[in-house]
Amino acid sequence: MRISYKLSVAIVLTWAVSGFQSTVQAQNKQQAPQLRANNVKQIIAAMTLEEKSKLSVGMGFKMPGMPPPEKGKKPEAIDIGGFKLPPSDPDAYNIPEKVPGAAGRTHGIARLGIPSMTVSDGPAGLRIEPIRNGDKSKTYYATAFPVATLLASTWDTELVNRVGVAFGNEVREYGVDILLAPGLNIHRNPLGGRNFEYYSEDPLVAGSMTAAIVRGVESNGVGTSIKHYAANNQETNRNSINTIVSERAMRELYLRGFEIAVKKSQPWTVMSSYNKLNGTFTSQRHDLLSTILKKEWGFKGFVMTDWFGGVDAVAQMKAGNDLIMPGSPSQSEAIVAAVKKGTLSIAQLNANVERILNIVVKSPSFTKYKYSDRPDLVAHAKVAREAAAQGMVLLKNDEHALPLAAAKRIAVFGNTSYDIIAGGTGSGDVNKAYTISLMQGLGNAGYKLQEKLSKSYADYLADMKLKQPKPKNFFDHPAPIPEMDVTALLADEANGADAALITIGRNAGEGADRKLDNDYYLSAAEKGLIKSIADAFHAKGKKVIVVLNIGGVIEVASWRDGVDGILLAWQPGLEAGNAIADVLSGKVNPSGKLATTFPMGYKDVPSANNFPGTPAEKPEQVVYEEGIYVGYRYYDAAKVKPAYEFGYGLSYTNFKFSNLKLSASNFVKSITATVTVKNTGDVAGKEVVQLYLGAPKKDLDKPEDELKAFGKTRLLAPGESQTLSFVIKAADLASFYTNREAWVADEGKYEVKVGSSSRTIAETASFKLAKDITVEKVNKALVPQQAIKELKLK
Ligand code: BGC
Repeated sequence: MRISYKLSVAIVLTWAVSGFQSTVQAQNKQQAPQLRANNVKQIIAAMTLEEKSKLSVGMGFKMPGMPPPEKGKKPEAIDIGGFKLPPSDPDAYNIPEKVPGAAGRTHGIARLGIPSMTVSDGPAGLRIEPIRNGDKSKTYYATAFPVATLLASTWDTELVNRVGVAFGNEVREYGVDILLAPGLNIHRNPLGGRNFEYYSEDPLVAGSMTAAIVRGVESNGVGTSIKHYAANNQETNRNSINTIVSERAMRELYLRGFEIAVKKSQPWTVMSSYNKLNGTFTSQRHDLLSTILKKEWGFKGFVMTDWFGGVDAVAQMKAGNDLIMPGSPSQSEAIVAAVKKGTLSIAQLNANVERILNIVVKSPSFTKYKYSDRPDLVAHAKVAREAAAQGMVLLKNDEHALPLAAAKRIAVFGNTSYDIIAGGTGSGDVNKAYTISLMQGLGNAGYKLQEKLSKSYADYLADMKLKQPKPKNFFDHPAPIPEMDVTALLADEANGADAALITIGRNAGEGADRKLDNDYYLSAAEKGLIKSIADAFHAKGKKVIVVLNIGGVIEVASWRDGVDGILLAWQPGLEAGNAIADVLSGKVNPSGKLATTFPMGYKDVPSANNFPGTPAEKPEQVVYEEGIYVGYRYYDAAKVKPAYEFGYGLSYTNFKFSNLKLSASNFVKSITATVTVKNTGDVAGKEVVQLYLGAPKKDLDKPEDELKAFGKTRLLAPGESQTLSFVIKAADLASFYTNREAWVADEGKYEVKVGSSSRTIAETASFKLAKDITVEKVNKALVPQQAIKELKLK
């Protein structure tokens, strides 16, 4: 039988190719290198393009309430309220979850020994499914720590670090590799729906708190994802809003906290945000992710998208957004196609994969850590209670209304006294085993409670809850239950009790910003409640205390004069009631200070006219016309008096600051400031020391003062003193000059102001800088697409 030449060549070639393939397959089976801590580059060389694209795209998401994609059918996009999510990866349904309820997973590649990593929310505690397959004999509850805004109000990085240590232990012991937290977006506007997940209006506070908690969490050998990078300061139309902001405001405010956190704590990962920034999705901006984050700041971990963030997988890869979450096969396919077409370089994809693998090798899934599913929740609840009490802020305390002796009989009003809010909603929520209500906390502390009043509230709330509609989806929350009418009970209560306590509660979370009416402003019913209780109790010479169980700023100026004391308890986590009772009773002397301003009214807020953007019906863009004037930077420079200023908070004792000394009067490389704080009152307490710096204004508009350092004393006994010292570096003197693309410290006189709030300055001193210093030259980046009419206050 004659075989044609062509055919014989084809047979030989086919044989050769198939022989080659089977050799590769055999090698793959037997000799494929296995991932080790030190062979990441070798693994990348052994990975196929498809494997690389899979590693760069997460394993998909089991959308709550959505059926799995049908077998054999191409999965379809999911529409949630007009927003199209890319189709989920069937792997999300087909590969059993390691930790039910976690937010996502990366792909494992068994051939190369690459495990899948599990990532899970969120900022106030690990959010996982507490009950698996209906089996209540074994539970997986996590500690609900106080929300970030409360943690920031402690101004105590050592304590926040301890919260992180406990928190990270739960991450590890429940089998999770990376915690999707902390969040550190700036409190730009009080209506921001996720402000409770974030720390402060000030980037130094936000960055320092982030670094402290990241170090604590990661000390357990698990990762964090600091989020949402960057300029993600609202929930309205969050998936496509175009945030238009100047390079200077970006550098000085919206990037600054991330920069501090990255440089101080090198988190395993950073999460890019949903919004567009000056015209481009943050996850698709090379300058934001590669130039600034990785090159300028030296970030070593990997960047992941927020869930379903951005629209173009290839652009994300190019930008240096290393991992796309939660991931869809269509995204991997797009990456493969782009490499084949030459529109995405393999070098870029390799670089992204390398960053991911460098973290994989540190993860508990890689080291096969045998997690217990039994973290020490009792010990962690103690940390949560301590942090909660330390972060509560005493806003008002006329004639020593507080502390209230624990033997007193209290009439407790307000729905949230009985149904306290431990934390906000959405991915910032935590599945906790319990929450101590204020009633329980007061009872535990030994207070006597008014039984009849408590019963009326219990009955009322039970009845109203039955009538509440069930939430339609993850983002839907029933309207709060209206306050109970207490008119008929007031006379008895004012006679029988020693004091009245009224809790005002607010909740918010992912998916929506807050409203002005009945949220930022108290409702007419709430104001009526406060007034009628105050009238009845004051007529009997008895005190009225308001507890604010809120996640974000509310209006206080119109009603505060009617009450004797106000304790801002924030959303204090699962030990809420116990922690509030600790402060009310004086067991803990309050030492929390505001890390975000309470203005007199919403119209005073510098971004009031630019939130949440235009057009009003469905905002597409938001212009940050207030520029660098956010929070106290605005109120101080514009001479607008707030209701309670940044840094404010009372104590049951008094402190005296003295002896502010600077190590030099001319600045060379750094200057050390020392100051002594003395407890001049009758009870032990802690004081927060805040150092503000006023820089010379040459050609540039600058805030009056900016916070440059802070510290907290130890618990000082009456009469005891402590000296604290702070180092001021050249970077602290500098402002961002857009035209020079540089941080520059201007020559001239610098005022150092040390005090217990941004407006209570106790000691001042000054030093001189003889010549301008260009502290750092940076890259031209994030240039706005349009001119911004920025506020100038010079
Ligand atoms: C939130 C993130 C969260 C992620 C995963 C997103 O909707 O914005 O903060 O980490 O979901 O649950």
